[in-house]
Amino acid sequence: MRLIAFSAMILSLFCLTAQAQQGQFLADRHVARGMKCESCHTPDNKVKTSGDLDVCATCHGDYPAMIQKTEGRYEVNPHAQHEGALPCSECHKGHKAGVNYCGGCHNFVYKVP
Ligand code: HEC
Ligand code: HEC
Ligand code: HEC
Ligand code: HEC
Repeated sequence: MRLIAFSAMILSLFCLTAQAQQGQFLADRHVARGMKCESCHTPDNKVKTSGDLDVCATCHGDYPAMIQKTEGRYEVNPHAQHEGALPCSECHKGHKAGVNYCGGCHNFVYKVP
């Protein structure tokens, strides 16, 4: 029992440290740059849209623009996807760690900011 409690403590310490090192989540990093909840959200906390895409594209650009911006970092560009108006938030999460959505079907390993 004690060993389990001890392991759990070590694990939670490790997670806290990892989180602190990673900085905060995407939304916190935007707020730290002076943006507001409303930069991304409607009054009822839905993620705003930009045409067919999530609000992210308003400031950062659409998939072709993002492919250019992130070219060459991975063998297969994570923005070179084949699902049309795939929501940016399939991978980029506001308030938790990003998700390697493509990894559900491919062996691509992406670290999503
Ligand atoms: C950079 C854009 C961004 C900013 C700024 C941002 N959010 Fe979010 N938020 C998201 C995204 C993307 C999601 C959906 C993915 C997720 O759950 O993380 C989300 C989800 C949420 C949800 C959960 C909705 C649900 O159905 O689970 C709430 C509540 C929320 N945000 C509140 C806030 C508040 C309050 C602020 C300001 C302190 C804020 N957000 C700032 C992008 C943002
Ligand atoms: C109101 C404009 C605006 C919106 C909306 C916005 N961003 Fe940003 N974002 C910025 C600015 C400004 C920066 C800092 C300069 C830069 O790196 O481009 C930034 C930086 C980033 C970065 C790199 C730095 C980091 O902290 O990781 C990522 C990734 C990012 N944004 C993703 C997103 C995603 C995904 C969404 C939608 C959920 C989003 N942004 C919505 C303006 C915005
Ligand atoms: C399939 C998952 C996925 C989707 C969907 C996705 N991204 Fe990304 N995004 C990534 C990954 C992975 C990176 C990190 C790329 C790198 O480090 O080279 C990234 C990086 C970024 C960055 C930071 C670029 C920089 O200069 O460091 C921005 C901004 C961004 N994405 C915006 C978007 C926008 C806008 C959309 C929707 C139009 C979107 N992303 C959709 C996976 C995704
Ligand atoms: C639901 C499963 C699924 C998801 C999720 C998925 N893919 Fe695919 N992908 C496929 C299938 C099926 C093929 C077709 C394989 C074939 O025809 O050989 C494919 C093919 C590809 C190809 C090869 C295209 C070509 O013309 O040869 C690339 C590159 C690719 N996917 C990238 C991505 C990226 C990047 C993501 C994440 C944004 C992603 N995929 C998400 C199922 C998926």
